[in-house]
Amino acid sequence: MEFTEIPGTGLQVSRIALGTWAIGGWMWGGTDEDQAIKTIHAALEKGVNLIDTAPVYGFGRSEEIVGKALAQKNCRDRVFISTKTGLDWQDGKVFRNCSPDYLRRNFADSLKNLQTDYVDILFVHWPDPLEPFEETARVLNQFLRAGKIRAVGVSNYSPEQIGAFQRGGALHLVQPPYNIFEREIEGDLMPFCHQNHLALMTYGALCRGLLSGTVNAARAYEADDLRKVDPKFKEPRLTQYLAAVERLEHLARERFGRGVLHLAVRWVLDHGGDIALWGGRRPEQMDPLPDIFGWQLDEDAKLAIDQILKETIKDPVGPEFMAPRSRKPATG
Ligand SMILES: NC(=O)c1ccc[n+]([C@@H]2O[C@H](COP(=O)([O-])OP(=O)(O)OC[C@H]3O[C@@H](n4cnc5c(N)ncnc54)[C@H](OP(=O)(O)O)[C@@H]3O)[C@@H](O)[C@H]2O)c1
Repeated sequence: MEFTEIPGTGLQVSRIALGTWAIGGWMWGGTDEDQAIKTIHAALEKGVNLIDTAPVYGFGRSEEIVGKALAQKNCRDRVFISTKTGLDWQDGKVFRNCSPDYLRRNFADSLKNLQTDYVDILFVHWPDPLEPFEETARVLNQFLRAGKIRAVGVSNYSPEQIGAFQRGGALHLVQPPYNIFEREIEGDLMPFCHQNHLALMTYGALCRGLLSGTVNAARAYEADDLRKVDPKFKEPRLTQYLAAVERLEHLARERFGRGVLHLAVRWVLDHGGDIALWGGRRPEQMDPLPDIFGWQLDEDAKLAIDQILKETIKDPVGPEFMAPRSRKPATG
């Protein structure tokens, strides 16, 4: 495992964090608690010390499962928990809500779900355009001063929104999407974070499984699985993404003796990301973890990857379909 220090906090976290959105079941076709707990334990056994969750993941379910998994191993003091705030829900419909009252209630619920009296990192999940970002920062900084959190983060914010947030208080980490297929942050957010010493903890290293090497055109998704509406997983785009995966798999095998999954996670770590979030819900999905380390992508391999993308992805699409609604226009 590789580790990194989150600037300004002293927290030494693993460069791979376990993502537990799927473990909550919501938008992933349901959850199996026993498998979920085993997955968390498998990640910890392989050296991961940072677990990312959110109250909205299964409407408390993911946080509860994380809390239970850590309690079973009695290891809360050796694991860093990252959770989020600022997404609200009603009748299963999710919307942004960073009103100070809601942030306080939402965070109190997280502590209960997680069976803890502090979390290590608290992210604002999505920017709420109806609340001043400075005010949101003030609320999180109150938690920081009270010792309820140890680091402040924002997720899905632009550099301008981050600038406004920082006028209200300290900020340590930023959580945007980033993977071989979703590279929008390279334009402005990534250089902004590097210049301003903000740790980049990026999500979707496997592009929701597309870069795992196990997705094919015949694979069907259960119930509310978000990949039913993900434009990358639908024709006409799926064929081009699968063609890219096949060529990336070949490159990974030939040059590094690894698979496309290893290449995808290594690419995030060697391409400007500080911490890569890797989502999983079955313990065997953590088996490839050790083979992410002990090698690096050289410049030649990075260029070859860019060339593969250029030749295969003629009609790219980003992860925008995941953005939750704002409160007021949400009536439609
Ligand atoms: N801040 C935000 O707005 C935001 C948004 C998205 C995600 N996140 C965070 O980032 C984490 C990771 O993102 P993500 O879960 O969307 O996507 P991801 O890491 O790109 O992909 C996760 C999916 O890939 C498949 N997978 C994982 N390991 C595998 C293996 N060894 N072999 C085959 N397939 C494998 C699993 O799907 P199957 O089990 O279906 O095969 C898994 O659920 C989330 O859990 C969450 O913590 C944050």
